[in-house]
Amino acid sequence: MGFLVTGGCGFVGSNLSAELIHRGEEVLVLDNLSRTGSGRNLEWLRGLGKIEFVNQDICNLAGLESLFRSNRIDCVFHLAGQVAMTASLADPMKDFQINVAGTMNVLECVRRFAPKSTVVYASSNKVYGEIEDVDLVELPTRYEPVGRKVIGEQTPLQFCTPYGCSKGAADQYMLEYARNFGVNSIVFRHSTIYGGRQISSFDQGWVGWFCQKALEARDNRNADFSINGNGKQVRDLLYVSDAVACYLAAHEHVEAARGQVFNIGGGYENSMSILELLAYLGARLSVKLTPRELPWRANDQRYFVADCSKAMQALSWKPLVDKEMGIEETLRWETARMEKASA
Ligand SMILES: NC(=O)c1ccc[n+]([C@@H]2O[C@H](COP(=O)([O-])OP(=O)(O)OC[C@H]3O[C@@H](n4cnc5c(N)ncnc54)[C@H](O)[C@@H]3O)[C@@H](O)[C@H]2O)c1
Repeated sequence: MGFLVTGGCGFVGSNLSAELIHRGEEVLVLDNLSRTGSGRNLEWLRGLGKIEFVNQDICNLAGLESLFRSNRIDCVFHLAGQVAMTASLADPMKDFQINVAGTMNVLECVRRFAPKSTVVYASSNKVYGEIEDVDLVELPTRYEPVGRKVIGEQTPLQFCTPYGCSKGAADQYMLEYARNFGVNSIVFRHSTIYGGRQISSFDQGWVGWFCQKALEARDNRNADFSINGNGKQVRDLLYVSDAVACYLAAHEHVEAARGQVFNIGGGYENSMSILELLAYLGARLSVKLTPRELPWRANDQRYFVADCSKAMQALSWKPLVDKEMGIEETLRWETARMEKASA
């Protein structure tokens, strides 16, 4: 099997590539190393076994074409992208070029050079906008739906922010290429994936970011940090090894999954608000966390918890790592990373 992982030196991509290496698969990793930490992820991957690495931008169509012409590709995991909503507001054209035009380049190469291959795309819960038709109550630590606790794939699309538009457009192109051209494309809509090898920032990767802030506060290094909104916004946490298993399951079940979209997350039992995460970290590390409150981010969903039942059935997959276990692993990763950085 020949696997191409675009964004293969990023957080999810490096974990996925590592698992493919462990399985003895042929892995072609494509990344332009634009994300902080991606170079270190590449070094780590090289230490695990044999990979082929291409330092290339997905916006470079000619480069992608020659890659597809010269390699056998049975499966593409398309993870390269502009990943932050805030960055999309700062530079919407760049966001469009990477997420929409870059994805079109990948899809066109699949259609023309590897039409039988699977292509799995990492889309986002942002394609559902603010999900206004779910009634919420405001509890002391979180928002909670009045009725059903999980959000399914039938939720109306509402692209908000340039990032929502670019992820949504790519998501729809993926599905359209299955319908019109017979491409074996599969779309995953994620909200929060977390765990080792993520270089979290204020803009993206909130679980890792607050783990880092809590560790810094415990060590009296930097107690000053902020949250956007009142901190009661809820997401379901998906640990990265469960995300990796889901990508591999999609390829294994491509006949059932092709042309389909799946909401993928940790489910209601692994949901948390920012306030709940901070309370958990405060108790776990015996530290008082008092973030500054900043205005809400544009179109920030108050509540998103994925209904994973479609994926569970079609892909024979379910998340295995609970939030306590996952946060423990994330604290371990952040501690090691911070120690290395300050050495
Ligand atoms: N991590 C999450 O919680 C989450 C949630 C929803 C969706 N997603 C999607 O999953 C995918 C992977 O996310 P991640 O958290 O691993 O992000 P990441 O930023 O860690 O990884 C993305 C990788 O893509 C590379 N890249 C960026 N632009 C590129 C370009 N033009 N050409 C080639 N490489 C490029 C970066 O260097 C990076 O290594 C992204 O598409 C993201 O939008 C992630």
